[in-house]
Amino acid sequence: MQKSKFLNIVLATAVLVLAILLATKKVTTVMKSSKNTTESVAFNLLDSAYIPFKKRSLGVKAELHPKPAAVIGTYDKDGRPNIMTAAWIGICNSNPLSIAVSMRPATYSYASVTASGAFTVNIPSADLARYVDYAGRFSGKDVDKFKETGLTPQRAEFVNAPFIKEFPLVIECELTGYHDLGSHRQFIGKVIDVKADEDILNAEGRVDVSLLNPLIYGGRNYYETGAFVAEVGESLQEIDGKPFVPVQRRTYKNETLKVIHNRKSVRHFTDQAVTKEQLELLLQAGMAAPTAVNRQPWAFYVVTRRETLDTLALQLPYAKMLAQAQAAIVVCGDMEKAGNMKDKGYWVQDCAAATQNILLAAESIGLGAVWTAVFPYDDRSASVINTLKLPAHHVPLNVIPIGYPTGEDLPKDKWKPENVIWQ
Ligand SMILES: Cc1cc2nc3c(=O)[nH]c(=O)nc-3n(C[C@H](O)[C@H](O)[C@H](O)COP(=O)(O)O)c2cc1C
Repeated sequence: MQKSKFLNIVLATAVLVLAILLATKKVTTVMKSSKNTTESVAFNLLDSAYIPFKKRSLGVKAELHPKPAAVIGTYDKDGRPNIMTAAWIGICNSNPLSIAVSMRPATYSYASVTASGAFTVNIPSADLARYVDYAGRFSGKDVDKFKETGLTPQRAEFVNAPFIKEFPLVIECELTGYHDLGSHRQFIGKVIDVKADEDILNAEGRVDVSLLNPLIYGGRNYYETGAFVAEVGESLQEIDGKPFVPVQRRTYKNETLKVIHNRKSVRHFTDQAVTKEQLELLLQAGMAAPTAVNRQPWAFYVVTRRETLDTLALQLPYAKMLAQAQAAIVVCGDMEKAGNMKDKGYWVQDCAAATQNILLAAESIGLGAVWTAVFPYDDRSASVINTLKLPAHHVPLNVIPIGYPTGEDLPKDKWKPENVIWQ
């Protein structure tokens, strides 16, 4: 009895010692690893949502991204045109070039493709999202989707199917086979012809994805993309005899951080117009900036007249991109609002804060902008003052050309831990 009690005590002590040893080891390992990753700890402090490379199993989910949101055009057995949205779609063969699209037997289109032996794939740009949504919510059994949406059916040139006139990119396909996979039948269509609107083509006559700006389906939402990231083959380049490894771009879940880090100086613009509402949004963001003693010592000149933009482009050495920009905001200090002699010194800081807000707001709504300095250069100041006929108390700090980015300008990674002094 006493012997077994003694054994129990020995066993319990051993377990306790082991537990303490394991806990100490764990703590030391954690401390050691956090010491070694000061950089990532600092990142985590900046963006608490960012946990590098930590994966969680999601089970069997359709998380293959990006998924296109395409619209399939078919004629039914009576020759009536119909459309249905399909995200289960992709190129499945190069020669012959073929597209696979999967449809549930319950869809009206399923029977139509099976009977007609043809379909068109209509690729929408992001601004056509509402039509895509409608075509994916209602069935051709119940409604005439062309009539309800106002979209125009056009007979395909080479196959027995309609395409949507208003969609920028259309692929005519002839049915060559199908596979019954379970919930869906996968139809294979041989591509017979591709038709694209002129305004989504680049100089070589190929589809420019940033001009197409295709709609993406992402589970519960639609997204747009289209920003240029890198050239295909970029990773084959060599720098100093070593293979070029593109900079790993961090992604941010936090919307504000995303905008801050994706902002870039945009110097190349498309000819897409910028609206007054968009410019007003930028101005509202500018005026939300903090100012010393809340003086708001500023005046914002908004230039949209082509002639004025061109004159400024000619006169300002570092603002030549104004010739392509659709608008410009000239941020000025207002000396009548800038306070006494001591406070006057703050106008540059105040207007700089407003400028940064404008640049970030532009990035957040898909516009591009760049800060081109005017102050403290006498020659540039004189050009702006004369061109815009500024009163003496308005001192221009900068000119911000604004427009839709071509996608050529990319954000820079400027994070340099050596510039930080931790104390
Ligand atoms: C974004 C989105 C993607 C869809 N993808 C598919 C798909 O790939 N296959 C499918 O069978 N149904 C898909 N659907 C559902 C059909 O579009 C929907 O059932 C439609 O009403 C069918 O039209 P129909 O009966 O006129 O053929 C999708 C719907 C949406 C909104």
